[in-house]
Amino acid sequence: MPAPAKLHQFVYVSDATGPLTVEALQLLLRKARAYNHAHHVTGLLFYSDGAGENSAGAFLQILEGPEDVLRGLVSNIRLDTRNVRVRVLADGPVAERLFPEWAMGFVAVVPPDLDRLTDYLRGQWGAASLPRAQTMSPELRQRMQAVLDEYPVWPHFLE
Ligand SMILES: Cc1cc2nc3c(=O)[nH]c(=O)nc-3n(C[C@H](O)[C@H](O)[C@H](O)COP(=O)(O)O)c2cc1C
Repeated sequence: MPAPAKLHQFVYVSDATGPLTVEALQLLLRKARAYNHAHHVTGLLFYSDGAGENSAGAFLQILEGPEDVLRGLVSNIRLDTRNVRVRVLADGPVAERLFPEWAMGFVAVVPPDLDRLTDYLRGQWGAASLPRAQTMSPELRQRMQAVLDEYPVWPHFLE
């Protein structure tokens, strides 16, 4: 029997090229979830629309799944015109999934919350000169959960 594929994780931040409408986000999520579900990918996508700032918005995504699948996916995301400047914060093997229940969880947050999480990750993992294996601690999951809990659930993102 072939050995099961090793579990891998990517975490990156990127800049949105323009504000995304609810419909555009729904489309992105619907496609992403179908693909992820079929390829055993799970994770969480944070999006801030950059409101109040001279910015188009930003993404922070945690992807977990088979390494080859994730590498292909991250290459696609790098080429995706909906975002630019993909900066990988973590790229390495992990023992278990942090978000086993989500083909792609989603939450739209205010920019300071996204910045706080990004700063925390950079503080934990260094200024990310080179992507390397990292361990997602239970504390990090708790921090992300705390951000999630502050926001109401948007039913149309749960379809
Ligand atoms: C911020 C962001 C996150 C994305 N996350 C995923 C994802 O988790 N899964 C997925 O299949 N596509 C995701 N996509 C879409 C991919 O970039 C790409 O459209 C998808 O892999 C299909 O590529 P293709 O049209 O070349 O087949 C994401 C795109 C963006 C901008």
